[in-house]
Amino acid sequence: MVIFGASGDLTYRKLIPALYALYNQKLLPDKFHVLGISRTTIPDGEFREKMTEGIRKFSENIHLNDLQIEEFKSHLSYIQMDMTLEEEYSRLKSALDETNPNEGADSNYLFYLSTPPSLFSVIAGNLAKVGFSNESDGFKRLIIEKPFGYDLESSLTLNSQLHDAFLENQIYRIDHYLGKETVQNLLVMRFSNGIFEPLWNRNYVDHVEITSAESIGVEGRGGYYDGSGAIRDMLQNHLLQVVGLTAMEPPSSMDADAIRNETMKVLQSLKPIKHEDVVSQVIRGQYVSSHIRGELVPGYREEKGVNPESRTETFIAMKFFIDNWRWGGVPFYIRTGKRLPTRVTEVVVHFKPTPQKLFQVDEACKSCNQLIIRIQPDEGVLLKFGLKQPGAGFNVKTVNMDFHYSELSDTHLPSAYERLLYDVMVGDSTLYARADAVEAAWKFVSPILEVWKNDPDQKIYGYPAGTWGPENADDLINDGETGWRYPCKNLADDGNYCEL
Ligand code: BG6
Repeated sequence: MVIFGASGDLTYRKLIPALYALYNQKLLPDKFHVLGISRTTIPDGEFREKMTEGIRKFSENIHLNDLQIEEFKSHLSYIQMDMTLEEEYSRLKSALDETNPNEGADSNYLFYLSTPPSLFSVIAGNLAKVGFSNESDGFKRLIIEKPFGYDLESSLTLNSQLHDAFLENQIYRIDHYLGKETVQNLLVMRFSNGIFEPLWNRNYVDHVEITSAESIGVEGRGGYYDGSGAIRDMLQNHLLQVVGLTAMEPPSSMDADAIRNETMKVLQSLKPIKHEDVVSQVIRGQYVSSHIRGELVPGYREEKGVNPESRTETFIAMKFFIDNWRWGGVPFYIRTGKRLPTRVTEVVVHFKPTPQKLFQVDEACKSCNQLIIRIQPDEGVLLKFGLKQPGAGFNVKTVNMDFHYSELSDTHLPSAYERLLYDVMVGDSTLYARADAVEAAWKFVSPILEVWKNDPDQKIYGYPAGTWGPENADDLINDGETGWRYPCKNLADDGNYCEL
């Protein structure tokens, strides 16, 4: 496995700990080598030490074994290289040829591009020129990290440049949300239970709400984030992939293409938002400075690398429809943002109320009739429904049936990267984004990007760090009854705790 951009945070925090976790579970081949590459000169020994530190700091749910870490470390090496220069790739080839006789690995290669996106096509092209896309002596797979383009046009260009060098079935586009255990569980929950599937349509579902909230800010990534914003960073990829799995038809099999064909159909059926409707269907916000638990938190415009007059959104909420037989007329609401009160990602299916209200429903039962799939943290599934409040009369109260993954003892919950790296090794692309799906998602967000770009008067609302985003987002769900689910209170208001 060759990691381009190996001096970066992703390799240290995610990739190497995930590879170690696979090694620990004996899921890596007996013979393997990991070669890190980037522009910085780093001695082999230093690279290995740094990666070991990453394993110790960021490994989750795994028992660390000192001896095993030492063994694993011996499979790592590093070379400095200018990835833009074609001539450097023959040097790379020799470095790889040298590792082969040492470790007897086959000519199966994974190329992981953890680099700025401007280098994706350059590296892919250069690899192809020295024969690294030719699979005659073993597989050659290219893994790329988002962003897959900046808009529809650039994603089409990127895909066509990648396809000049590698075949689509050699390209693995990582959307780490698809690697999350509970995201995959959406498939199992929906298609292995006779209980839910018959209800999963416009006849019984009132609306669907998907939230991915983060309590952190931009964490030193201001330079990247300011050119991207929540729509490109989270919504176009992670959230729309979750929409795809929530709304898809049953696949004909568990084959990668059968599943991806169905999620693709959902993305193709997203009803385009007209330019004139962007203002009422999409709300964007940006966090401003506030006090959280007595501590002053800087506003987005004060973050390092961010333009002090930036109009980049750190929050987005939108309402849209899926124009197909199953979902016609059912509103979908999605929202994501940074510096919200807590970190939580969940899908909430709100079922339709009974046709007649026989009972007195008090405040507490406004959230009856919901199925909540908690993707993170505290992965699990929660069903909320109404039962009789004991005592006189017929007052209805919400009760919960609540399953937490953590209750399954002895279960190793693999990290997203662990799962995805394993899949790419065994050639399973089910949980990777296909070119046409990426393009369909860009197509859907294009009108929004156009309106924001061309109309400087489009509002961007400020919201105090630690709150649930601009209050205007509440107007999107205007049924007056349920509104968004707020799994915890605004921190900025009362410094209160969070309760899922
Ligand atoms: C990344 C985004 O893709 O996903 C980040 O670039 C974001 O801005 C992250 O913080 C969220 O991932 P997770 O797994 O923590 O929900």
